[in-house]
Amino acid sequence: MSFISSLPSSNAMTDEEFRLFKTFVYDECGINLKPEKKYFLQNRVNQRMRVTGIKSYYRYYKLITGDGADYKTELLSFLDVLTINETSFYRNKPQLDLFQKVVLPELLHSKRAKNDFSLKIWSAGCSTGQEPYTIAMILNNVMTDIKGWKVNILASDLSLTVLEAAQQGIYPKAKTDGLDEYSLKRYFIEKGDNFHVSDELKRIITFDFHNLMYDNGFSNIDVIFCRNVLIYFDTETQKEVIGRFYQCLAPKGYLFPGHTESLQGVNENFVFIHKDRGTVYQKK
Ligand SMILES: C[S@@+](CC[C@H](N)C(=O)[O-])C[C@H]1O[C@@H](n2cnc3c(N)ncnc32)[C@H](O)[C@@H]1O
Repeated sequence: MSFISSLPSSNAMTDEEFRLFKTFVYDECGINLKPEKKYFLQNRVNQRMRVTGIKSYYRYYKLITGDGADYKTELLSFLDVLTINETSFYRNKPQLDLFQKVVLPELLHSKRAKNDFSLKIWSAGCSTGQEPYTIAMILNNVMTDIKGWKVNILASDLSLTVLEAAQQGIYPKAKTDGLDEYSLKRYFIEKGDNFHVSDELKRIITFDFHNLMYDNGFSNIDVIFCRNVLIYFDTETQKEVIGRFYQCLAPKGYLFPGHTESLQGVNENFVFIHKDRGTVYQKK
């Protein structure tokens, strides 16, 4: 590697440097940076180099892959700037309609029959929180007896910045697209230019850091939402992540990947359900 450290620091990332970062990012969080992402990566690394005052890509690479005292903190900040966090309330409505009208009633019916009043839902890759809050609104709308249930929505992400925003649950008006008048009135408190999520939703959600490349010990999850995350992974990583989801799910549990993310050729242990433009997979 020493040939790289001896390269003069210029602003343009060399192909060797790109390969080093690409391999590291892939191993660390599964994100598959294709060659056309070189300038994206270069910009994001530059962002962190400005903050840390490091002048060469290789020295920055050594910092995040090293064993110095501050490598872990910087590694988290690096992963943070790499992630794409686009999201919105009620994103992909047909999928959420399928959840509300088919999956949830079916689940509640079979649980009530077994006298099991617990419900565990995981929003994996929750970004700034719009997905878990949407799920919480749907549960509150449908489950008139929700107070008699032990409901837990686990919401996790790799980025600490988005997790912090999610936990705060404060959204400017411009970010409330997708919410109707009823939802805004019932589940949010308007303060100045912002809408604050009410405690009614917050109390059933637990936000936590989790990297999907690792196990988390979750078990008996009834529904997993992992939407618009798998697209950043290659097939090998998708196989690993979906395999872990399979283990976490309760028997006959449901998995919602994004509507463009298919499990075909990734995992055959799920039944594909397609109804009114909504799609979901059910554990066999
Ligand atoms: C485009 S957002 C999707 C948000 C939401 N699920 C939705 O569909 O609106 C993708 C999220 O996945 C997270 N992510 C990417 N790689 C991850 C990993 N290895 N572990 C956990 N989260 C990851 C990113 O930080 C980002 O917030």
